[in-house]
Amino acid sequence: MRLILLGPPGAGKGTQAQKLSQNYQIPQISTGDILRQAVKDGTDTGKKAKAYMDRGDLVPDDVILGIINDRIRAEDCQNGYIFDGFPRTVAQAEGLDVLLQQLNTLLDAVVYIDVPDDEVVARLSGRRTCKDCGALYHICYNPPATAGVCDACGGELFQRDDDNETTIRQRLSVYHDQTSPLIHYYAQRNLVKTIAGAGAPEEIFSAACHALGG
Ligand code: AP5
Ligand code: ZN
Repeated sequence: MRLILLGPPGAGKGTQAQKLSQNYQIPQISTGDILRQAVKDGTDTGKKAKAYMDRGDLVPDDVILGIINDRIRAEDCQNGYIFDGFPRTVAQAEGLDVLLQQLNTLLDAVVYIDVPDDEVVARLSGRRTCKDCGALYHICYNPPATAGVCDACGGELFQRDDDNETTIRQRLSVYHDQTSPLIHYYAQRNLVKTIAGAGAPEEIFSAACHALGG
């Protein structure tokens, strides 16, 4: 299965991608996670990306398409994958079309998680991530048993640099301008499954599985 998870920042794309990845036994491809790792490792890509990410702007399309081109040719992607945070612009979606054609594969569905802006700000301001295993928490909606400690692996939880109110507002504005047109782009091909993003993560996961045919 080849899926795209689409939705505003904080919609729960990462949360749902982790669950769907386990359920369907296919890898999650998060361009945000790949870029954050590149920044941490100090690679050329990381150096190029950092300033855009800190502002809440999009990293240039050619950088992103280069990352995706390498990633989807890997062995573990041969049976499918879940894109989380990609594509983000019409140019990226067109670039993906070319790549998929070269590989002779098709997308199965685009899951669009629909969440209002105010809810996004509340979710992102309280997000915490495990620095060791990447598990996602929220200080109110999904708190760990012990504050600051991952339930799954005991790792330390951290707050992302871009989860401050100014950057969140910029990410939302970029989403509305540059990413939301993709709903129409894929709706024209009848690929979009819209899921209301209100409700507990488990409920949204059930709705997504149902929309994908079980
Ligand atoms: P990226 O890492 O992709 O961030 P994002 O799209 O802004 O999405 P988030 O990771 O913030 O949110 P999410 O939807 O995954 O929500 P989550 O599950 O964590 O991108 C970061 C930056 O990298 C970009 O700004 C850009 O600069 C660059 N970038 C990345 N990809 C790019 C691309 N393709 N092109 C160009 N630039 C790119 O959930 C959020 C919180 O809510 C968590 O605390 C969670 O526990 C909680 N939560 C989740 N579901 C629920 C629920 N149902 N109810 C209550 N709380 C919930
Ligand atoms: Zn952990």
